[in-house]
Amino acid sequence: MIRLVTDDLRPPAGPPKRHLLSVADLTRDDVERLLGTARTFAASLERHVKKLPTLKGHLVVNLFYESSTRTSSSFELAAKRLSADTLTVKSAGSSVDKGESLKDTALTLGAYDPDVIVIRHPQIGAPQFVARVTDAHVVNAGDGKHQHPTQALLDLYTLQEECGSLEGLHVAIVGDVLHSRVARSLLQAFALVGIRTTLVGPPALLPRELPAETTTDIEAIRDADVVYVLRMQSERMGPGENYVPSLREYSARWGITPERLRPGQKVMHPGPMNRGVEIDSRVADSPDSLITNEVRSGLVVRMAVLYDVLTGGPVGVQALAAAEVA
Ligand code: CP
Repeated sequence: MIRLVTDDLRPPAGPPKRHLLSVADLTRDDVERLLGTARTFAASLERHVKKLPTLKGHLVVNLFYESSTRTSSSFELAAKRLSADTLTVKSAGSSVDKGESLKDTALTLGAYDPDVIVIRHPQIGAPQFVARVTDAHVVNAGDGKHQHPTQALLDLYTLQEECGSLEGLHVAIVGDVLHSRVARSLLQAFALVGIRTTLVGPPALLPRELPAETTTDIEAIRDADVVYVLRMQSERMGPGENYVPSLREYSARWGITPERLRPGQKVMHPGPMNRGVEIDSRVADSPDSLITNEVRSGLVVRMAVLYDVLTGGPVGVQALAAAEVA
């Protein structure tokens, strides 16, 4: 059972903490600084000794109330590559199973004085809540269908590495936009850097209020430079809610197959994939797939985010030079 207690608490004393809660809080300068820091860390990972002493003595707590492979593993490895101590708590198997509230869980982990709490939670606003009740810097690793800001940043990084300039790119996001925190974060991030977005999918899964062109016609993806595929997020659909007649029909009408793509058209997917539903294996495994690149980007972008919330600026040469003696 997951309980989010929302009673008001006085904000912690001291200067305001830097958090990463939503792409809406970022400026274009913030994005450029974070991507630049990620590039610097990527260069550091080319070295024989990959560990940097940058966050030595800091504690990063990863608190996950939903399943995760990519986000949880990359945050943990990012913290370790920067020499921080890490503590990972997954709600399953923790005292959340005994009814402990998010407030009490956050206060309990907060008693260890973590510098950063990375949180994934099914309820919108849970990261903001943890930021209010603890003294830690908080990073949103996904809250309900609201936000997944580090996914958007790692996708911008992946696109920049692949395409160079982001300004003027056209990305078609295909699939279950309605339940997607990734799509909401991407739309804001793409707007910041001048990427045009078209949303494509079944009518019931295309919210009309989002600031992008929308179409149900899968042929529209051929105009895009990049096709960004989303899975059906059944964990956010209520019992008995049907948005498409069947997965077989969804796949037939909106599944991404080699026949639906132009030669050389790039394909992205945040993962996890449901091969044979929203994406054909021949697409997922093709040389034009950037899916593994996205996972690699996740590590360096999350290193940059941890560094940035803690230091508030571009990565310093001293932090990297120290790696030579570590
Ligand atoms: N993209 C993403 O958030 O993947 P995980 O759920 O595996 O973390």
